[in-house]
Amino acid sequence: MTAKILDGKAIAAQQRQLVKTQVAALKRAPGLAVIRVGDNPASQVYVRHKRNACAEVGINSQAFELPANTSEDELLVLLEKLNNDNEIDGILVQLPLPDHIDSDLVLERILPKKDVDGFHPYNVGRLALRMPLLRSCTPKGVMTLLAHTDIDLTGLDAVIVGQSNIVGRPMALELLAARCTITVCHSRTRNLQEKIANADIVVAAVGKPNFVKGEWIKSGAIVIDVGINRLENGKLVGDVEFEAASERASWITPVPGGVGPMTVATLLENTLQAGQG
Ligand code: GUN
Repeated sequence: MTAKILDGKAIAAQQRQLVKTQVAALKRAPGLAVIRVGDNPASQVYVRHKRNACAEVGINSQAFELPANTSEDELLVLLEKLNNDNEIDGILVQLPLPDHIDSDLVLERILPKKDVDGFHPYNVGRLALRMPLLRSCTPKGVMTLLAHTDIDLTGLDAVIVGQSNIVGRPMALELLAARCTITVCHSRTRNLQEKIANADIVVAAVGKPNFVKGEWIKSGAIVIDVGINRLENGKLVGDVEFEAASERASWITPVPGGVGPMTVATLLENTLQAGQG
């Protein structure tokens, strides 16, 4: 079997077009505050992509690029100001934050209705209870990709590799809500290969290049690769051995051009939703 490509780049472009049309119909353009602290190079790239995407669809993005020595209190004061700003519909704090800042505390200070990343405990709880409001961008973007396969997800065995708050955990809640049977694997998981070999859907989100071997994939499985890893030679690769996995999977996401663009397009969708609220 040679896998069909789940073309996140193309699907995200369609999604941006849809958001652009809906933004144009609003009386006031939605406003998104994008906060970055310090100078993590990957974060700089991601934030630039997000701001460019906002400009493309007519969302007003305001950048707050703060120095690495910004205190937690200073960040909380900024959030308070943005929470009370009627021109701001969405607030995004790019992660990771510097070590001296407590990310959990910071994310919980964002008003849930402005939490376009869907990281606030309120929004994660809503998703857990099947009453979602704002949903985390990467897992929601993965659900959009899965919808494009036209495969009925009901009852499928889904294995998620990675238990992070940003991807693994909300991904499990999304797939559970879609009536899959969920296994969440992490560094203490035993017999990972065996679990992956039984999966109809594999979502890899570990951040280790080529961690999931192609030969582990069940014939006909859907493979979603959330990893974005830069090799020493500058090449971007995912968490899955792409070539070998493509020989077994029915559908697979490439890196780059798979999940990455969907995360950004879904952020726009969430900001539109917050702006309509
Ligand atoms: N860092 C890695 N992924 C994300 C994301 O989706 N949102 C934010 N804010 N930070 C991230």
